[in-house]
Amino acid sequence: MKIKFVMDKNYVIGDVDDRLYGSFIEHLGRAVYGGIYEPGHPTADEEGFRKDVMDLVKELQVPVVRYPGGNFVSAYDWEDGVGPVADRPKRLDLAWRSMEPNLVGLNEFSSWCKKADTELMMAINLGSRGIDAARNILEYANHPGGSYWSDLRKSHGVKDPHGIKLWCLGNEMDGPWQVGHKEAKEYGRLADETAKAMKYYDKSLELVVSGSSNGSMATFPQWENEVLTECYDSVDYLSLHNYLNNRADDLDSFLAANLKIDRFIDTVVSTCDFVKGKKRSRKQINLSFDEWNVWYHSNQQDKDISDRTPWQVGPPLLEDIYNFEDALVVGAQINSLIRHADRVKIGCMAQLVNVIAPIMTENGGSAWRQTIFYPFLQASLFGRGRSMKVIASDDGYDHKDHGQVPWLDASAVWNEEKGEISLFLLNRNRTESLNLDGVLGGFAGYAPVEHLTMVHDDIKAVNTAEKPDNVVPTAVKGSVKVEGESLSLDLPPLSWNLVRLKKG
Ligand code: AHR
Repeated sequence: MKIKFVMDKNYVIGDVDDRLYGSFIEHLGRAVYGGIYEPGHPTADEEGFRKDVMDLVKELQVPVVRYPGGNFVSAYDWEDGVGPVADRPKRLDLAWRSMEPNLVGLNEFSSWCKKADTELMMAINLGSRGIDAARNILEYANHPGGSYWSDLRKSHGVKDPHGIKLWCLGNEMDGPWQVGHKEAKEYGRLADETAKAMKYYDKSLELVVSGSSNGSMATFPQWENEVLTECYDSVDYLSLHNYLNNRADDLDSFLAANLKIDRFIDTVVSTCDFVKGKKRSRKQINLSFDEWNVWYHSNQQDKDISDRTPWQVGPPLLEDIYNFEDALVVGAQINSLIRHADRVKIGCMAQLVNVIAPIMTENGGSAWRQTIFYPFLQASLFGRGRSMKVIASDDGYDHKDHGQVPWLDASAVWNEEKGEISLFLLNRNRTESLNLDGVLGGFAGYAPVEHLTMVHDDIKAVNTAEKPDNVVPTAVKGSVKVEGESLSLDLPPLSWNLVRLKKG
């Protein structure tokens, strides 16, 4: 099937903020205990952090990691996680019906972030708590010394402040499942007052206010409208969350589901700008898509665990084992984020280790890359620069829920400094290759570097500890041809592709 497309130097969507390729670690399941932290593990360092996991995290070059939740944060007392470990309380975590031993807290996680070359994005509890918890953790984390909370940090052996710049004002406060769930106006007022207090301390902080938990919430997008109406002037980003699933086992629908994300983002952007208009403001609110992924494989198992054996430390919750089709859909979600790089500035793949994650571990055993690791890795490594518009002639297929779905799902990033172009390309067609015939306006002189493709004859194929390389990208030789500004290449049926070009 032939598809023509155009990408032009003059059609720039916007700069990709490196933080688009962030991730998330929650005190949930084995993300912390058995994931990043396992003191008895053969690879554990002096602080108990698994070095095998650390190496995989570093490979992903994750620029920012959101912590410590998630639903967990909405009943979390951050003070429990600091000070001598022997004195820390064990607490019931109501969000995940688990036992929180508080062996890892702010100081340990900050140290892990340094080792992992990543920035800490800290969420504060606006569910069961409020302004006091926020201002106190900020003083503890960021003030150099000479005040109660900063001196307490020093007395805990942490001389230098953590300098955390990016803070989430609660989590999914629109969700009735959230401890301390609130009405929009009520939350908007609390977020505003909390943000003001935090910015009295440091006006350079970047604050993320909670948007909708997904685009199907009954309160969406009125939630965004009401919340921002209260706190527009004091916050910097609005969050959005969304998970995709293939519960219906309908591949055509699953492959098109990222188009829902495009629409979700468009509506959130419109709502932000509507409030901007109402307020006659010159300030622009950008988006933090700080939870996205595929999530559904583990749902039944999770129900069984929390019903039958609640209150465990590090139970195996949300352990989705991802297959080949999930990798395609994760690639498509990344395309949606890149296509909106002008407004989506922060993204967090949820999550990073064991819990709906690209990295899986066995307690005491190995760590490996799930199928979804690869599209995320490719985007993180080669998706930094400027997001470029790609226009394709593509009739696609008609889907009852998604309308006209193009066969090709594409995003493109131009890194001018490095003289590199990366094309991220999904072929949704199960039986036919796509023969792309493109014009790269203004990009004469670029030559192909590599074409990596992910294909598999079993759409349900997975990677496991025993077969960690069952689903991986492979190099396609000689498929990409460039002549002047013309580019042609073939995308195999049902495939995820990275095509890289470099200035000659
Ligand atoms: O990432 C798992 C959970 O999904 C988070 O705790 C919550 O914010 C969302 O509902």
